[in-house]
Amino acid sequence: MNKEELLFYDAYEAFYAMAKNSKAFQNFCKDAFGEDFSQDGFSNVEQIDMIFQYIPKKDDVHILDIGCGNGKMLGYLQQKTGAYIHGFDYSEEAIKTAQLLFSKNAEFREGVIGKIDYPEESFDVIISMDTMYFAKDMTEFVSQVKKWLKDTGVFFVGYQEGEVMLKTESKDTTILAKALVANGMKYEAIDITEQTYELLKNKRMSAMVHQNEFEEEGYMDWFNMLMGQTECATQTYEEFKAKMARYIYVIHK
Ligand SMILES: C[S@@+](CC[C@H](N)C(=O)[O-])C[C@H]1O[C@@H](n2cnc3c(N)ncnc32)[C@H](O)[C@@H]1O
Repeated sequence: MNKEELLFYDAYEAFYAMAKNSKAFQNFCKDAFGEDFSQDGFSNVEQIDMIFQYIPKKDDVHILDIGCGNGKMLGYLQQKTGAYIHGFDYSEEAIKTAQLLFSKNAEFREGVIGKIDYPEESFDVIISMDTMYFAKDMTEFVSQVKKWLKDTGVFFVGYQEGEVMLKTESKDTTILAKALVANGMKYEAIDITEQTYELLKNKRMSAMVHQNEFEEEGYMDWFNMLMGQTECATQTYEEFKAKMARYIYVIHK
């Protein structure tokens, strides 16, 4: 497969090279999200902290991150729980960094959604923040994730509508929700649209605070990208929520 032909592949290679080198971006992430996970998304530390309640308190716990980027989110979960961490992402640049940063009880693989595979019932927790959108066939990919999850496992997803995915009526009408139902999976969905509006406002402000650092590093293109990504937070909340929605899905087999 020619990865360069996959949606946004080159953009993510450039993004993870910038995330590795740019102090401005690392400082921005800390301010905007509470922790630097090199987010290209909308996950702040409060959302990630929600995952702890689903990580069993025992030895030999295995967590998989689908779209793990440079692994920093998994590194944070490992540091707090001692879990084994596994992640895959199609970005070669991101996976190389993850392998350098985290080598103990950690496995990072370069892989494409729908192509990569793991043995059945491997994971206690599977997370995927802002990545399920890239599945070409959501129902088929969910069935694969279900196979990877232990019977008692939890699948935790951050899912946004309004940009890559069109906004639908509710948390039960998203393409993800339909794929979960088609696979007989049980879910609870938490609507965090309002928190996301506040997060995007904070993201915009934090980028502006670090504008000079981005400029000094020659990364103004990325500063401008952050401005573009957060433009929607300059609207009123009513306008925002007419077009955008964000949910956390907590899913069981
Ligand atoms: C919006 S970012 C989210 C990254 C991270 N989970 C976060 O919350 O910040 C999407 C991630 O999915 C990866 N990705 C995009 N398409 C993919 C695909 N078809 N297969 C595997 N990874 C993919 C990108 O490299 C990127 O790391």
